[in-house]
Amino acid sequence: MSTPHVLVAYASKNGSTEQIAGWIADVLSARGTVADVRPAGQVDGLAGYDAVVLGSGVYAGRWLRDATRFARRNRKRLRELPVWLFSSGPLDAEVADRAPALVRGAVRVADMVDAADQVTFGGRLDDSARGFVARQILKQGKGGDFRDRDRIRAWASGIADQIAAAWGRSA
Ligand SMILES: Cc1cc2nc3c(=O)[nH]c(=O)nc-3n(C[C@H](O)[C@H](O)[C@H](O)COP(=O)(O)O)c2cc1C
Repeated sequence: MSTPHVLVAYASKNGSTEQIAGWIADVLSARGTVADVRPAGQVDGLAGYDAVVLGSGVYAGRWLRDATRFARRNRKRLRELPVWLFSSGPLDAEVADRAPALVRGAVRVADMVDAADQVTFGGRLDDSARGFVARQILKQGKGGDFRDRDRIRAWASGIADQIAAAWGRSA
């Protein structure tokens, strides 16, 4: 059987979700898939992909527009493929762990594309972040990196398990 090709598409304003997408792709690659990491806004179609992971940073309770547009644009094909969603938001490790389906937009997209799973990871906000509100949050001392890399890797590993099972082989 051919090697499964997975698209890891992301929308990211300040780079932390992009990095998470890379960590997920690293796990998938190590487990025998071909994993492409691409900005959701730059993906034209899904030809050649067997599965999709889609993630977005969370701003004011919502997914970034590139991620929701990607889902809408490709909804028909996405419903035929296995799809996993992740959000990267809460600047608080505990909230991130307790609230897997916190983000309204992600819940709607999960429904639209019939996602296999969706998860919320902690986010990161540091001095390089752009924008007035970002600077206000930083001034309040609420910045930091709340991404749990082990948890992200474990989630990606679960996806690799499901892909391996669907492809009828051990990876
Ligand atoms: C202006 C602003 C608004 C934000 N709003 C939310 C929010 O509503 N919910 C949340 O969980 N995180 C929120 N965050 C935290 C971001 O989601 C977090 O920093 C995330 O890692 C950003 O992803 P990115 O670096 O890929 O853009 C906000 C951050 C900023 C700067």
